Amino acid sequence: MPLTEDAKTALVTGANRGIGFAIARQLAVQGFRVLAGVRSREKAVIASEAFEKAGVMVTPVVLNMADAGRLAAALTELELSHSPIDVLVNNAAILIDGPGGFSSSLFDMTDETFRRTWETNVLGPAVMMRSLMPGMLTRGYGRVVNMSSLAGQLSGMGKGYPAYRVSKTALNALTRIAAGEAAASGTDVKVNSCSPGWVRTAMGGNDAPRSPEQGAETAVWLATIDSEGPNGGFFQDKEEQPW
Ligand SMILES: NC(=O)c1ccc[n+]([C@@H]2O[C@H](COP(=O)([O-])OP(=O)(O)OC[C@H]3O[C@@H](n4cnc5c(N)ncnc54)[C@H](OP(=O)(O)O)[C@@H]3O)[C@@H](O)[C@H]2O)c1
Repeated sequence: MPLTEDAKTALVTGANRGIGFAIARQLAVQGFRVLAGVRSREKAVIASEAFEKAGVMVTPVVLNMADAGRLAAALTELELSHSPIDVLVNNAAILIDGPGGFSSSLFDMTDETFRRTWETNVLGPAVMMRSLMPGMLTRGYGRVVNMSSLAGQLSGMGKGYPAYRVSKTALNALTRIAAGEAAASGTDVKVNSCSPGWVRTAMGGNDAPRSPEQGAETAVWLATIDSEGPNGGFFQDKEEQPW
């Protein structure tokens, strides 16, 4: 679908594969100008071909979420060379707790695992919001979607995946804080968290029941809600979840 002059611009991080790829594809189909955040130039080339093969126009942009020191400058450059970002989907994340998945123990967690998970899953999205939300507030419109997980729910918190769980709880806290800023501004800027469910990706594994396209649906819904839509909520399957 060709872009209209008033097409909104969406930036999706971690969009070269998995759920992020599906979110970027679905937003492009809906008529957004989509920038797909990828980690390196090599991945940008591969992603470009994959989007072309999927029949959508999506522009890969290099953004390493683990390199917070360079993110802000990269985003300024991005908005100058493309267009102001109206929709931000913080999707990129890592799950490196282990071994043992849900059996992975807090007592085996290394400092390195905690630090790397925090940098990618929390500090990166925080810098993204800090850099892009002021422009949204000034322009009076913006949608921010933070891809979280039921693993980060305090109401259901238990053992396993300690670094990942803490990172998603912290991301949910950032959603609440940023949504508070949006509400206080009185503008049409909305910030929400969502969970994709258990999805067949490199992170979710082959046994997961949902496809990446299904996992993308709630994030795409939150990215496109109108001014009556929610602010500061946590959703799965478009339904509000307890924190
Ligand atoms: N799959 C599930 O069942 C499930 C369940 C709950 C929540 N989630 C959440 O859904 C989101 C997407 O997960 P997924 O299943 O699609 O995972 P995935 O297949 O592992 O993909 C993760 C994406 O994040 C990118 N990424 C990781 N570190 C990055 C960095 N430093 N800079 C830039 N990009 C980086 C990856 O890029 P590279 O290719 O360069 O590594 C990849 O594009 C995540 O936030 C995850 O926590 C997933």
